[in-house]
Amino acid sequence: MAGDSILSMFKKAEEAKAVDSSKKLRVGIIGTGWIAEAHIDSYKRMPDVEVVALADIIPGKAAAFAEKYGVPHAHIYGHHTEMLAAEELDAVSVCTYNMTHAECTIDCLNKGIPVLLEKPMCVTLEEAIEIRKAELKSGKVLSIGFQPRFDPNMQMIKKIVESGELGEVYYIQTGGGRRRGIPGSTFIEKKTAGIGALGDIGCYSLDMVLNAIGYPKPLTVSAYKSDFFGTNPELYPKDAARFNVDDFAAAFIRLEGGIILDFRISWAMHMDTPGDTLILGKKAGLRIPSTDCWNGSVGGPMKIYRDVAGVCTQFEVPILGGGGNLFDKKVRSFLDAVKTNGASPVPSSQIIKNQAILDGIVRSAELGREVEINLPDID
Ligand SMILES: NC(=O)c1ccc[n+]([C@@H]2O[C@H](COP(=O)([O-])OP(=O)(O)OC[C@H]3O[C@@H](n4cnc5c(N)ncnc54)[C@H](O)[C@@H]3O)[C@@H](O)[C@H]2O)c1
Repeated sequence: MAGDSILSMFKKAEEAKAVDSSKKLRVGIIGTGWIAEAHIDSYKRMPDVEVVALADIIPGKAAAFAEKYGVPHAHIYGHHTEMLAAEELDAVSVCTYNMTHAECTIDCLNKGIPVLLEKPMCVTLEEAIEIRKAELKSGKVLSIGFQPRFDPNMQMIKKIVESGELGEVYYIQTGGGRRRGIPGSTFIEKKTAGIGALGDIGCYSLDMVLNAIGYPKPLTVSAYKSDFFGTNPELYPKDAARFNVDDFAAAFIRLEGGIILDFRISWAMHMDTPGDTLILGKKAGLRIPSTDCWNGSVGGPMKIYRDVAGVCTQFEVPILGGGGNLFDKKVRSFLDAVKTNGASPVPSSQIIKNQAILDGIVRSAELGREVEINLPDID
């Protein structure tokens, strides 16, 4: 039958894109800084992986990393383009600072290599669109490194929303952050990070709630951002002269479906927390206690607020254990998708909306007014 032959042609094309499972996957890591340590630790626990190449633009850094993490035979490169030109890789982790996420990821995808890209996806919406286009053109897996997605408590939030327990969700308050917690390093300069608390921890709290409600399109944003702590030598004596990104941001975001997202994020402020995450539905509300610093889970048992027989009641959702190593899960889910050229575990089709909000927050804060978010349909 004609239908069968189209199906078998499709299957053959998909098999051609998949990786030979009888061999170890040849993995490369671009950027051998702090987060690359978590990646290599996880890769080393995977029996079907060999880390064969490392690249870092800081001379000697990748070689020292290879020595420290017990992969002395990995080939060492000074720039990701040299690595991509010389190696035949089955997968790459992009562990560079935010400002080079887009170029590294696009270069890998253009060479037909699947990518596990650290969060945030990138810095601007424009970059995110280019990444998404390169991904679609290559037909290869791109997964974004949001390991909290694999925490059972985070998954429970989505299950609660999807169960209908809350009814139709109409308002969400989310965010989080710290009283004092500016990370330093390459996170505090525009030339490396592009954005500050927004890209470091803001993207996580956005993902937590947007994933739960099915990632509706963001429509408009009215935002504010500041840098009062990072740029003040008395409050940030460690490195105020170098600091030039946001350390606090707040935004009012309208989402498709009439849902309101009220967001605030902080690396530093004169307050203990900007508040718990609240998801209000027409039948019930969910409170998700915030964590001191973003640690990929909930800060205590979640609570559901619901009327029972006309009486206001509330009850706790027990904390779920058994999450295991979230980094291992993030890496494993990516590798499994690579092997079959299957669906991305944390797809850019979703995270591009997260990036669109970050981009909208920066634009709105700089213009001092509400802006529209114009997200093109690129699927
Ligand atoms: N998922 C998580 O829990 C988590 C935690 C921390 C950081 N991150 C993310 O990981 C990324 C890196 O953070 P980090 O703390 O490891 O930063 P880092 O500055 O310690 O390391 C980044 C490295 O990338 C290198 N690099 C940059 N461009 C390069 C290029 N074109 N080719 C080769 N090397 C290049 C830099 O020289 C640097 O050594 C950031 O985007 C951050 O948001 C994620």
